[in-house]
Amino acid sequence: MCGIIGIVGLEPVAPRLIDSLKRLEYRGYDSAGVATIEVGRVDRRRASGKLRCLEEVLLAEPLTGQVGIGHTRWATHGAPNLRNAHPQTAGRVTLVHNGIIENFAELKAELIAEGRSFESDTDTEVVAHLIDRGLTHGLTPLNAFRQTLDRLSGAYALAVLIEGENDLVMGARRAMPLVVGHGDGEMFIGSDALAVAPFTNRVSYLEEGDYVAIDHNAARVFDAEGNSVERPVRIVSVSAAMVEKGNYRHFMEKEIHDQPDACQHTLSAYLDPIARRATPPGDFDFNSVDRLQILACGTAFYAGMIGKYVIESLAGLPVDVEVASEFRYRGPALAPRTLAVAISQSGETADTLAALRWCKSKGLKTVAIVNAHESTMAREVDLMWPTHAGQEICVLSTKAFTAQVCALTALAIAAARTRGRIDEVEEQRLVQVLLEAPRLLSEAIASEDVVRSLASMVGRARDVLYLGRGAMFPLAMEGALKLKEVSYIHAEGYAAGEMKHGPIALIDQETPVVVLAPSDSFFDKTMSNLSEVIAREGRVILITDEAGARHAPAEARVILAPACDPLIAPLVFAVPLQLLAYQVGVFKGADVDQPRNLAKSVTVE
Ligand code: F6R
Repeated sequence: MCGIIGIVGLEPVAPRLIDSLKRLEYRGYDSAGVATIEVGRVDRRRASGKLRCLEEVLLAEPLTGQVGIGHTRWATHGAPNLRNAHPQTAGRVTLVHNGIIENFAELKAELIAEGRSFESDTDTEVVAHLIDRGLTHGLTPLNAFRQTLDRLSGAYALAVLIEGENDLVMGARRAMPLVVGHGDGEMFIGSDALAVAPFTNRVSYLEEGDYVAIDHNAARVFDAEGNSVERPVRIVSVSAAMVEKGNYRHFMEKEIHDQPDACQHTLSAYLDPIARRATPPGDFDFNSVDRLQILACGTAFYAGMIGKYVIESLAGLPVDVEVASEFRYRGPALAPRTLAVAISQSGETADTLAALRWCKSKGLKTVAIVNAHESTMAREVDLMWPTHAGQEICVLSTKAFTAQVCALTALAIAAARTRGRIDEVEEQRLVQVLLEAPRLLSEAIASEDVVRSLASMVGRARDVLYLGRGAMFPLAMEGALKLKEVSYIHAEGYAAGEMKHGPIALIDQETPVVVLAPSDSFFDKTMSNLSEVIAREGRVILITDEAGARHAPAEARVILAPACDPLIAPLVFAVPLQLLAYQVGVFKGADVDQPRNLAKSVTVE
């Protein structure tokens, strides 16, 4: 789950490697490193911690080579320290790696028995040794690379420099993404199109098992069997400008504010605002299936749960939702005529991808609700239902989540109409309601000041509970996840009706309880649960609309959300929850955009 970049350039390459690594930092940020080659000699600089630490090292000891590789790490094998930082070196070989070499222990034992010594705890170092061994046996760099790849089990994207080879970077991929960027007299390889976006928009996607050698003028690509192959060059629309923070303090803040736009943009792919009709992109017929199996992780899973509530209640179409890491290993029984629906911002999450592939192998039609339209998931599914949230940089998902909920809600309307559960007039009403979501999301952002005033109370707590009923239940879990991630405060989301079956024991004066209660058909019941909390001296933050606020007990602190139709309440109420997590993170001085231990794209299982 690291980010890698390789450049064969026409000018000193270190600043460009850093530029690219900044775009890849979302994949991990435990350590970083670069290496360049100059007059046949490879030199590397590494630092534990974030990229700025590596930048300081480079300031003190610059690198001037025009050909180089870079890496930003999310530690899997070996502590996140300097000796385990990439690039890793053995003999003439220096390389960077994203993924996990599953048979590294056995390879390492073999290499040690031959007298080779290791300087890191990484799985990666064995790859460098294997290539170097091939070179010492007289193989060409490409043959030594090829032979090494044949020995590896597990997952990898690699970028490799060879001492003495001034015009060469080799790369390979298996189960991890790798793209080739085509410049003018320069060539690039990187973990994704964003990595090479500052240099070129002409990109080829390597396929499973491919390996590649780039020099100043060309990329020679080979498939897993060693056959020379062509991978088409595509023009991609990932703009370097997309990753600017503008006037906001953090990307999280910016992305919360981006949500009206992100939702508007997403909805325009699903709704016809003139005819007020909802149509799934690709014209999918919801009568062709009897069941949906939603697969996702983390925040995307909570979006899927909200999708279940809205699709089942509107369209009467049964929906199962499961975290992909469980689904893929437990031998699930699938009903015939089930549509497998992956939900993913990145389109690269290893567990979701594996679950999707499993469904495909069982003959199910597959769909991905995905934000990264060039991702592996997007390319492997039968049908893509895009979200248009734009590039999400903060590790915590905000605008991608609401965009997913927008897509699912639009799909629910389309399914309801196709399956005869609602008539045209009701479809038009619901579409109109959904079209109002972007405006209401923007009104919900106005709660920012009130939310800020509550941040210190929540920020001092050790535990926080979130309660909701109906679609507010998965949203409560999403609110708790956001708080955990950004502030490291323990938080749990519960179905409000479940509280009396256990969690109520946690209530005391120290534990804030965030209650999500739009004035809908569940309102009275949720308010009873709120009273139970107050009776036990719990401190309540009530998120509700104006009508709901009129019933708020004096003890409750109220965050006002705009009044809205229940259809879009999960969208509108998501905003104060995200703002609360953000403000608590700021109050605690947390690393809001890059919390510890997390990575934006989880490409390991
Ligand atoms: C939480 C968060 C994660 C992701 C999860 C799935 O803020 O961002 O829980 O939602 O890792 O990622 P994607 O959507 O890329 O599959």
